[in-house]
Parts: sequence; structure tokens; C-alpha cells
Amino acid sequence: SPASNRCSYEDYEATADWLRSKTAQRPKVAIICGSGLGGLAELLHNKVVFPYKDIPLFPQTTVMGHQGQLVFGTLEGQQCVCMQGRFHTYEGYDLKQVTYPVRVFSLLGVKTLILTNASGGLNSSYKVGDIMLIKDQINLPGLVGNNPLCGPNEDRFGERFLCMSDAYDPDLIALAQQTAEEQGIEEFMQKGVYCMVSGPTYESVTEGRALRTLGADTVGMSTALEVVVARHCGLRVLGFSLITNMVVTEYDSKQRANHAEVLETTRMRTQVLEGLVTKIVAKIRRE
Ligand code: 6GU
Repeated sequence: SPASNRCSYEDYEATADWLRSKTAQRPKVAIICGSGLGGLAELLHNKVVFPYKDIPLFPQTTVMGHQGQLVFGTLEGQQCVCMQGRFHTYEGYDLKQVTYPVRVFSLLGVKTLILTNASGGLNSSYKVGDIMLIKDQINLPGLVGNNPLCGPNEDRFGERFLCMSDAYDPDLIALAQQTAEEQGIEEFMQKGVYCMVSGPTYESVTEGRALRTLGADTVGMSTALEVVVARHCGLRVLGFSLITNMVVTEYDSKQRANHAEVLETTRMRTQVLEGLVTKIVAKIRRE
């Protein structure tokens, strides 16, 4: 029923209260780790770990199988909370469940949200293993009615009609670019537009071409919904796409998208991306 697709403000509060009662840590930065990119959470110091199944009212991970836990801790002296395993619509989670953690983070006092994802490359100048700094997004599900903000507006989080033209924070983008230079990794850093599709199917050739025509540089099955909800409650957002494979856009190509390739490439650049995010976190101002 539509009602079950809604979470009340009191639900988010109850979850946040429970977490606050279990740890004294008060993170200002939250990190949502993409598929194969959860290793970042292992880098935290003074870890306090909550499996999703133990967190009241948190979406349950029965269908997810793999990692599913919140990890609190410090990274470069900065208090962080890390989602090791996120929720995807293709797994059957609804829009409120996919974005549930974001509002909990906001109630916990988080001000900055960093997201990573594995994605397919559409821009023909990109290479497998490149890291794209997300400058903007196309929330394709949202454009056709599947926006997590559909339904009554919760004014305590944010306003009814949300501006998305500055969703990815320009200052954080500049900080990320500067940090990439310091790390000597500009060679495989890109900056572009991420498009979310629901999945779980990868794109047909014509779908891939269509997304490229729309202005997308990468395509994946996450991130955009969390970003909408994060902006609604005033969080600053920074996002990265790791290009794990190129989307097939030639009809006679013998290339085939597959999950094994995605995971393999993720392993190849995961430490670089983890290192970059770590250095960025160190520089985020502590308000
Ligand atoms: Cl090619 N497409 C989508 N939608 N998601 C992906 C991907 C492709 N590669 C990794 N994630």
C-alpha cells in the first residue's frame, strides 16, 4: 500500500535516537560506499559497527546477501559514519527505504554526504578504471514519477519544491580536484554527469546511445535518489563514479556487460578511490 512506502519523521528520529544511545560518536561526514567499494569503512579508527538488522526501523538486508552495516569511526581525525552496502531499487527496496539512511544521518548531525558508485562509461573519451567526479546527475527514475520526495512533504526536513541545479557542491568539487592533483591521479580523473537507471538490466545498445545523447557520461543503478533526499535536508554532496566497464554502444560489438568485469575493475582502482576520499575527508571543515 502507498502508506507502507512512507516513513514518518518519528521513524527517522527513533532510529537516530537509538544510534545516539549506542555510541558517543557524532559524525559530521557520512559516506555511502558503492558496490565493491566498502573497503573504505575498514580504514576507520575506533570503529563502532551496527549490522543493519540490529538497527530499529532500518531497511532490512534479507535480499541483499552481502555486506550490510553502518560503521562509525574516525578517518584522518574526522568523525565519519560509513554505509558498507547500500540499498538499490533493483533489489526490491522502495524509494523511501533506499533513502532512509540519509535522513537518519541528517538527524545525527551529518553535514556532508560523500557517495561512491561503480558505473558504466558512456563518454567515449573515458577509460575503464577512470574515476569520475560527479558534477551533475540525471535522475531518470525521478523524471518519470519515481522520485523519493513524491508524497506529502516533510517540512522538518526541507521544502516542497527542491532546487537541484547545484546538487553537487561546487566547493567540494574544487576540493576534490585539488586533492586529486596532490595525489598525482589527475591522469585518470574525469568530471562529468552521472545518470541513474533502475536496473538490474544493463543498457541495450539503443538505451546506451539514448543516455549519451541526453548528456550522461556514466550510468549506474544508485546514488541519484540518495542525493535528492540529501539535498532536501540541506546536506552538502560529493560523488564519485568508478568506471568499471564501457557501455556497449555499437550494434555489432562483441563486448558484453557483465558483473564479473565490474567487480574486477573495482578491485583495480578501489584503493586509489579510498585514498582520495580519505584525503578529502581530512580537509572538510569541521563545523
Ligand atoms: Cl554498463 N550500466 C549500469 N546501469 N550500471 C552499471 C554499469 C552499466 N556498469 C556498472 N554499473
